[in-house]
Amino acid sequence: MDFLSSFFSICLLVIAGEPHPSLASRTGFFRHKYADVEPPPDGICASSVIVHGYKCQELQVTTKDGYILSLQRIPEGRNEVRDKGSKKQPVIIQHGVLVDGMTWLLNPPEQSLPLILADNGFDVWIANTRGTRYSRRHTSLDPSSPDFWNWSWDELVSYDLPAVFGYVFSQTGQKINYVGHSQGTLIALASFSVGNLVNQLKSAALLSPIAYLSHMNTALGVVAAKSFVGEITTLFGLTEFDPRGLPVNAFVKSLCAYPGVDCYDLLTALTGKNCCLNSSTVDLFLKNEPQPTSTKNMVHLAQTVRHGVLAKFNYERPDYNIMHYGEAFPPLYNLSNIPHDLPLFVSYGGRDALSDVLDVGNLLDALKFHDVDKLSVQFIKDYAHADYIMGVNAKDIVYNDVLAFFKHQFDA
Ligand SMILES: *[C@@H]1O[C@H](CO)[C@@H](O)[C@H](O)[C@H]1NC(C)=O
Ligand SMILES: *[C@@H]1O[C@H](CO)[C@@H](O)[C@H](O)[C@H]1NC(C)=O
Ligand SMILES: *[C@@H]1O[C@H](CO)[C@@H](O)[C@H](O)[C@H]1NC(C)=O
Repeated sequence: MDFLSSFFSICLLVIAGEPHPSLASRTGFFRHKYADVEPPPDGICASSVIVHGYKCQELQVTTKDGYILSLQRIPEGRNEVRDKGSKKQPVIIQHGVLVDGMTWLLNPPEQSLPLILADNGFDVWIANTRGTRYSRRHTSLDPSSPDFWNWSWDELVSYDLPAVFGYVFSQTGQKINYVGHSQGTLIALASFSVGNLVNQLKSAALLSPIAYLSHMNTALGVVAAKSFVGEITTLFGLTEFDPRGLPVNAFVKSLCAYPGVDCYDLLTALTGKNCCLNSSTVDLFLKNEPQPTSTKNMVHLAQTVRHGVLAKFNYERPDYNIMHYGEAFPPLYNLSNIPHDLPLFVSYGGRDALSDVLDVGNLLDALKFHDVDKLSVQFIKDYAHADYIMGVNAKDIVYNDVLAFFKHQFDA
């Protein structure tokens, strides 16, 4: 799955400096690529939106548990002459794990989803998950403190998404359309299944959906998932998981030494064979990602791989689970409870090693009682995980269908 996005990021980093996938930097891994890179000081609007001639506002929203998240709003298309009376439909765009909102803006503007949506009349809001570079503030905790990192994707379901939805809803007074990629689909599905957000939601487009992960079949992924729960917590404690840091670096190297794990072509091994990435975009990706998450989140994602069910964080001890949940096992997120009339668009790729076709099959099975006219499914044979955000032809192949899906909801 998506915790593999970490490795996906890592492999991109490894490959970045190479004319072709090879592990020339096997020893240095990606550190040397990072040393000279500073995050854009002025934020995502200035570096990646305003430069292309669009309006963009940097905003922030505070979650109920105190995290201060950054949010970018692109209120209208390029050079749009706005009809003041017309109400635009808001769209929230939610990235995956170990990246931030910037990943949507690395391609040229006519290929970038947020700008395409803005040019097509949407009011676009880009979310940035807690722990990523522009969402590292808290009302009382400092990122250097382990307490800042005491969360998994359960808290993204309970706090991050509700905060962002609540804010956008209060600002626009409109029901919200949602686009998620990877972990951004997992937290949405989990939210909808417990009845969160649905009152403020108009429709949701899920790209490279991640819910069930038991078929994720790459050797490195499986070894990583097994290692995570055991080794990694002792290695790092439940603190920050920083893909740029030395401990993570060493961890990946140790995994690559496992028998049967071939790190020669990490990108392909982990995300699948992306058909359509632009090397300039990949370079830009490496300048901007990966971003940190919490180790607890990585453990939770690894549990999803190992246990094959979608459940809350497992403390791996009945007494701890009872302490947190009143039960020996963590409660399940039952995706069959997603309201059957919620308009959903699901797009998945035939070469996506993280969002495996069989796992997407399990997801669609959980949605089998969904109203047939409320569920659109798109399958793209040649696409892998990263093609959905950075593919040079993603507009033609995916985003146009997302636009048509959203527009269909307001014609309906
Ligand atoms: C690849 O990215 C570069 C830099 O943004 C751009 O000039 C070029 O047109 C892109 N190529 C394709 C095929 O989209
Ligand atoms: C982490 O937060 C949980 C509540 O979500 C709390 O029970 C636990 O004690 C915290 N752990 C640490 C190490 O602070
Ligand atoms: C999930 O919910 C459906 C319908 O509400 C129910 O039939 C099914 O047994 C539930 N699954 C689990 C694992 O609880």
